Amino acid sequence: MLWEMYIVIFFLEWNIIYKVQRLLFSKRNEGVRVMSDKENQHDLGEFFESYLNRASLFTEKQVLQSTYIPPEIPHRDGEIKQIANILAPALRLERPSNIFVYGKTGTGKTVSVRYVLENLMKTAKEKKIPVSTIYVNCKLKKIADTEYRLIAHLARECGKQIPPTGLPTDEIYKTFFSALDENGRLLILVLDEIDQLVKKTGDGLLYTLSRVNEELKNAKVAIAGISNDLTFIEHLDPRVKSSLSEEELLFPPYNALQIKDILDKRVKQAFRNGAVEDGVTAKCAAYAAMEHGDSRRALELLRVSGELAERNGQGKVTTKNVDEAEDKIDRDKIFEALATQPTQMQATLYSIIAISEQKNNSMIFTGEVYELYKDLCKKVGLRPLTQRRVSDMISELDMLGVINVRVISKGRYGRTREIKMAVPRATTERIHHALTASLGLRR
Ligand SMILES: Nc1ncnc2c1ncn2[C@@H]1O[C@H](COP(=O)(O)OP(=O)(O)OP(=O)(O)O)[C@@H](O)[C@H]1O
Ligand SMILES: [Mg+2]
Repeated sequence: MLWEMYIVIFFLEWNIIYKVQRLLFSKRNEGVRVMSDKENQHDLGEFFESYLNRASLFTEKQVLQSTYIPPEIPHRDGEIKQIANILAPALRLERPSNIFVYGKTGTGKTVSVRYVLENLMKTAKEKKIPVSTIYVNCKLKKIADTEYRLIAHLARECGKQIPPTGLPTDEIYKTFFSALDENGRLLILVLDEIDQLVKKTGDGLLYTLSRVNEELKNAKVAIAGISNDLTFIEHLDPRVKSSLSEEELLFPPYNALQIKDILDKRVKQAFRNGAVEDGVTAKCAAYAAMEHGDSRRALELLRVSGELAERNGQGKVTTKNVDEAEDKIDRDKIFEALATQPTQMQATLYSIIAISEQKNNSMIFTGEVYELYKDLCKKVGLRPLTQRRVSDMISELDMLGVINVRVISKGRYGRTREIKMAVPRATTERIHHALTASLGLRR
């Protein structure tokens, strides 16, 4: 039994050494490739020239960015009217009710609120009414990851200079409040992804903000909170909750037809006439409506499909590009998720991939992974964790969608877990490559 294990470890080790050698070898060979690259430089010139001569599929690609606010927002008439009704008193310098807008991701919350604000500000400017708005996306790190940073940002938006650190919190609040009063304006403060703010700083800040009008003499503040965490408001301090949600508005998911309609309008703005084959927007919409009607996902699919078609030099975006885009987006998401994982997690996944390649992609077991993992830890100078912790990490990788874990019962011999890679072979290879570099196995 023991000697069998040694043989397995020997082979696995050999596999890693072989791979590292191959990487080193391919590095040494780069000189040879440069020669042929040089020979190809002429082709590259031709490539760029033909690229320039080829008509682009896009006419205005930036309208596919998520920050773009389109001139019309179909299928959100009701919601937009409600927000406009709630915020309109601002134009008479009466404080509007605070409003809490919530709904799943990609249901048009941000775009609708920003659209209403844009129009409200247009009227305010034309009529010289002293209303202003501040929009903060609380997910942004440097602006809203501490109470200090957020209030300092708000004070700066009102024209005050605040050092990046060092003042007592009371003082920045005071500076912010006095800036508001000096301006004597009515401020609509939008806190988008407000759940992130509470996650990072607690709800004390919201409590203070919701009481801000009691401190002000000349100015007034209304808060519009936006969140895709449907349970967030329930966990707030009851006083904050009732103040923040004086008005509440739920955005329901779109259906596939509504998403198709949104995409068709965007296609007209973003692409050259006839550059998108029939069926492309329907397919993007169908993919995006699979979980819930997520317009962000649909627009991303459309943009990536267009980019892939453009890169291939195609004259049209086809439905096949949508399938490729779906794959690419999923792959990129996995890479993004893996890049932020701790080294221990990366070592666990590396071990799984190494064994899975050894066993030609057939089922593998936690025990095998653990043995290789311990060995790998020695190699890269990591302190090995217990098998229990590695087992937990395997479950997390399962949740990330990189592997599939199946628990099988072995009757009175207990239960064991079978592990299999859940991504296509080419993706596995890319992940393997990235982990080799990240774990320092290149050296
Ligand atoms: N009705 C619509 N008409 C046109 N474009 C829309 C519509 N709804 C959403 N979009 C577009 O879809 C994308 C996602 O919308 P938005 O950012 O408003 O979603 P959200 O509800 O705020 O999602 P999240 O909770 O993830 O922030 C944006 O690019 C937006 O412009
Ligand atoms: Mg949003």
